[in-house]
Amino acid sequence: MKQIFAKKPLKVLLDEVVSENRLRRVLGPVALTSLGVGAIIGTGIFVLTGVAAHDKTGPAIILSFVVSGLACVFAALCYAEFASMVPVAGSAYTYAYATLGELFAWIIGWDLILEYAVASATVAHGWSHYFQDFISIIGIKFGHAFSNAPFDFNPTTGLLSSTGSILDLPAILITILITIILVKGIKESAGVNSAIVITKIAIVLLVIVVGAFYVNPANWHPFAPFGYSGLSLFGKTILGQTGPGGAPVGVLAGAAIIFFAYIGFDSVSTHAEEAKNPKRDVPIGIIVSLVLSTILYIAVSAVLTGMVGYQKIDINAPVSNAFGQVGLIWAQFLISLGAVAGITSVLLVMMLSQARIFLAMARDGLIPSKFFGDVHEKYRTPWKSTILTGVFVSILAGFLPLRVLADLVNIGTLFAFVVVSAAVLIMRKTHPEAERPFRAPFVPLVPILGIIICGVLMFSLPEENWFRLFGWLLIGLVIYYFYGRKHSIMHRMMNNETEINGDQAHPVIETDATNL
Ligand code: ALA
Repeated sequence: MKQIFAKKPLKVLLDEVVSENRLRRVLGPVALTSLGVGAIIGTGIFVLTGVAAHDKTGPAIILSFVVSGLACVFAALCYAEFASMVPVAGSAYTYAYATLGELFAWIIGWDLILEYAVASATVAHGWSHYFQDFISIIGIKFGHAFSNAPFDFNPTTGLLSSTGSILDLPAILITILITIILVKGIKESAGVNSAIVITKIAIVLLVIVVGAFYVNPANWHPFAPFGYSGLSLFGKTILGQTGPGGAPVGVLAGAAIIFFAYIGFDSVSTHAEEAKNPKRDVPIGIIVSLVLSTILYIAVSAVLTGMVGYQKIDINAPVSNAFGQVGLIWAQFLISLGAVAGITSVLLVMMLSQARIFLAMARDGLIPSKFFGDVHEKYRTPWKSTILTGVFVSILAGFLPLRVLADLVNIGTLFAFVVVSAAVLIMRKTHPEAERPFRAPFVPLVPILGIIICGVLMFSLPEENWFRLFGWLLIGLVIYYFYGRKHSIMHRMMNNETEINGDQAHPVIETDATNL
């Protein structure tokens, strides 16, 4: 009992930060912001906007982006405070260890797999849709059998239905390719990442500026055909309309889906350890990348729903397809190409972040450090955990439908945001004197609003996601019981097997292949 609530002392975390066995500090504010944008803008805006506008919101998706953006801004301020206080690799996992104790830290670490690894699978699907859209413009078609996951979730019936395909081969292939790049180290690709981010922003601006000329305001009426709310409590709609299949519809239900589009700003905090001046630059990276994406998203969704009536929005490649529908084939071509490139960078950062989380957990002994901390002799990368992540992601990406994956990611990430917001409140009480280079404003209001809005969005997701989340956490608890509990550094410390003192207690895990 004592162990599961044992907190990792702030001093130990800070000692770890200054020790030598850490990642190399190479990232400045621009690189961090670029990492953030690289991780944020992707499948959410290019793909999920279609499903959300078509099935849940209509043109009111614009408001859904505002609501989700707000939830993320509150959570981002909390992340920024923590990241400036404890700039180590573990992100929410580490913050939970310092404030809520080992068991909670484990739960969050396990939960973050939903965020990063399962999100990677979702993103790989999005990549596949745009890749196929792109090659179809130049007349190439992927065989139906290898173009999609074998089944999809039908929101009308609430059941899984066959797609007639066997697997999503492009999604699997891109995941393998990214895994190889990550194993070899991505130091060389600094320029590539920046180039991708610039291309991505240019494409989004093209959508906004060119698309604005094709907006027909009549398409914005009715503005909210599914209503302005959409809240359910374990399958019982308590606010707003219920869609076919029993899931809530409306602005909040849409916000819960397109929340996916914002995921990624928090990945900046997983790179805190590689930041040159983390106390200043990580908060900048988190907040600037989020605010920039929010503005772009609101504009894109307004243009998209203005260009095409919401019933006609394509659910696979909505943005490029809208330009095809108004006859701008050149733009459709450019957008597909830009989306393919842009989504690739999301996949790269998401899979990299997953390896960072594993690294932090391995250092604390909660997962086997021999495996998860093993650094490749030549490439200096945590190759085993990267390959494991790649295998897991490619299986999910090849066989599970996009909608199921995206909802699962959202509930897992929202949960992490709730915990980080709560952790800021707790830390302010327990460690009021700790140095906070960045302080979230208006505490306790900001974290409380973060908890409330993220909580509301969790309840706006279809109920089966709660069961999936509970199932996932249950598996995690079993693993903790049989492994983490007995092997954790905290356990060894409490049994006086070792002294927890910065690096002495930690396995030496070095890697230097993190410079984007
Ligand atoms: N926000 C990222 C995306 O939309 C995960 O692809």
